[in-house]
Amino acid sequence: MTSTAIGAPVNRLDGPAKTTGQARYAAEFPYEGLAHAALVHAAVARGRITGIETAAAEAVPGVLAVITHLNAPPMKPPPKRSILNLETLAGGTSVNYLNTGEVHWDGQPVGIVVAETPEAARHAAGLVRVSYEPLPFEADFAAVEHTAARARGNPLMPTAGSKGDADGALAAAAVSVDLRFTTPRHHHNAIEPHATTAVWDGDRLTVHDATQNVWWLRGHLAHKFGVPAAGIRVISPFVGGAFGGKSNVWPGTILTVLAARVTGRPVRMMLSREGVYRATGGRQPSAQRVAIGAGRDGRLTALIHVSTAPLAKVGGWAEQITSMAQHMYDAAAIRHEQRTLQLDTISTSVWRAPGESIGSFALESAMDELAYGLGLDPVELRRRNEPARSPMDGKEFAHRRLSECFAEGAERFGWEGRSAEPGSMRDGRWLVGWGTAAAYHPAWLFPANVTVRLNADGTAAVRCGFHEMGMGAATAQAQVAADALGLDVAAVTVSYGDTDLPSGPGAGGSTQTASVARSVVAACEKLKKSIGTPRPGESYADVLARTGRAHAEGSVGSDSAFGRFAGRVGFLARTVRDGRRWVKAACGAHFCEVRVDPETFEVRLTRWTGVFDVGRVINAKTTASQLRGGIVMGIGIALQEETLLDPRTGRIVNPSLSEYHVPVHADVPPIDIHCLAGADPTMPLGILGAGEVGVVGVAAAVGNAIRHATGVRLCDLPMRLDRLLT
Ligand code: MOS
Repeated sequence: MTSTAIGAPVNRLDGPAKTTGQARYAAEFPYEGLAHAALVHAAVARGRITGIETAAAEAVPGVLAVITHLNAPPMKPPPKRSILNLETLAGGTSVNYLNTGEVHWDGQPVGIVVAETPEAARHAAGLVRVSYEPLPFEADFAAVEHTAARARGNPLMPTAGSKGDADGALAAAAVSVDLRFTTPRHHHNAIEPHATTAVWDGDRLTVHDATQNVWWLRGHLAHKFGVPAAGIRVISPFVGGAFGGKSNVWPGTILTVLAARVTGRPVRMMLSREGVYRATGGRQPSAQRVAIGAGRDGRLTALIHVSTAPLAKVGGWAEQITSMAQHMYDAAAIRHEQRTLQLDTISTSVWRAPGESIGSFALESAMDELAYGLGLDPVELRRRNEPARSPMDGKEFAHRRLSECFAEGAERFGWEGRSAEPGSMRDGRWLVGWGTAAAYHPAWLFPANVTVRLNADGTAAVRCGFHEMGMGAATAQAQVAADALGLDVAAVTVSYGDTDLPSGPGAGGSTQTASVARSVVAACEKLKKSIGTPRPGESYADVLARTGRAHAEGSVGSDSAFGRFAGRVGFLARTVRDGRRWVKAACGAHFCEVRVDPETFEVRLTRWTGVFDVGRVINAKTTASQLRGGIVMGIGIALQEETLLDPRTGRIVNPSLSEYHVPVHADVPPIDIHCLAGADPTMPLGILGAGEVGVVGVAAAVGNAIRHATGVRLCDLPMRLDRLLT
């Protein structure tokens, strides 16, 4: 295979459609007779509804229906989660919305209003009066943190483990640190709020939804509404950002489908920004302990990482917060444990690089503090503890070039110009600090069914129901197919985001590009075999033309019931087999510079270098953008982002972008991105995934730079200036 497209900085194929406004998002599909919906949210953290007054809402001109638990038709309760049925992972909650008068969190939808216009729906929703019998609730994480118990894990994602006597080794260590860290709740804040358009035709259903997984959504809706999945089409060609926030099926989607069923009209609902906070879950907060012991030579003798994080009583996703402690450093003794408890809140969900993005804040800050204790440069400390095999379990790394990332990053950043003493570097009145931290994210593969068609005119079409959320996913697959078939990228069209296509993976876990590319390559190989060998100078399309065939097709996987079952079994077998043998991960090294005002403690980031090993880079431009975007999100985690949930009421009190701050251009320094050349030997085309690794380690790098500038170690996120003042 001569590669010309793979690796090139190809412009995104969907760019023109997006910049000219032709790309349609979930709330932009027109339908005859379209009605609009708005949610009514509960205003108690836990309770029973004792009465609902809907007359005022129903009297608003244009209102078609006010649906509450008093008049909603029954739906099936959500399916129980099972790893054998991946679709059940989408539920994320045990609540059977509008089929019960029970309230489980402040903000839970307790009604949906359908009207001729979105304005009428929203206005009427505000007129619905709900009374409650309040029940005791617990929403104060700090108050009940001590009641947490070990989280349930699975063999591939252990939630606890130990090697040697880490506590004893820590007590005996010549140099040690023992720090407590806290991280707050986060929300995803995609530009496109969650939105759904639902259209019923008898028992057939078409849904346009802002989702990261059209397949999970289809399976979930089939279960909820008791109709065949084959009669449901979920269409989601473009998603305006998601970051994990659109991987679960949230109540807004289910209730829009219900509203369309009840009114017999196509119904559209886009959540307000506040609605996104009330009716979709964000990331759990965490409290973490990292303790590290070392000899005077800088070799780690003990590493302990214990996390505690709350889920909700009605569901949630426990992040792999201590994942990195198992793979990063060659400590003689290691103990890690993830603990969880349940609160009366909305179920928590995954947020870009779940686990590693906040676990790395604790681990990589503690490593930096240990470097001060040892009088060692933090890059040198990491070099001395770089493991040859995964330190917890002795497994082989499929691929590990972390030391090269640090060496290359230090060079590009000019790290050797750093003076070790905190507060010793200045620029005028500004205190200057340089910080570094490691990035790490595991690599996985999911099943993908793909069909590729080559036409005699030299064009090709790739079909797979994967997802384009703004990262250039389809462009990457066009590049893969172009090289496999010997075509220009422009000759390849890629169809995605639709359950009428062969079933693809969800967009999550940095898995999509490798998972789909694996099947695209295999489908192209089948296709080429079916055509025969080209004569010298001939392309595969030429062979079709010469032999009088209009086109040829190659397919991988089947969406028959048996095909899907076989695909799932094959996926589980491969995942277990590979997981026993190798640790697969992308990694990287961050270097950053902060300036801190010595009087106001304002922190400004002034430059950033990130060097990554993500295996094979399919598209140099979109990969760099993904990694840069990850760093921007990490800057938000470091300095700005926090969802404030009032423990006295269980209510989120900053549900807007004016009070939940995300980085704007002025907060983001110039970011230099570099990817090591090369490929992972165990992954399709050598791809390790670039979606999440960029976020990991960013908050620690910023904290380490602040420590270097000021001498102050900040262990609580976000690192606001008031925390530097005290
Ligand atoms: Mo993600 S948090 O893998 O969408």
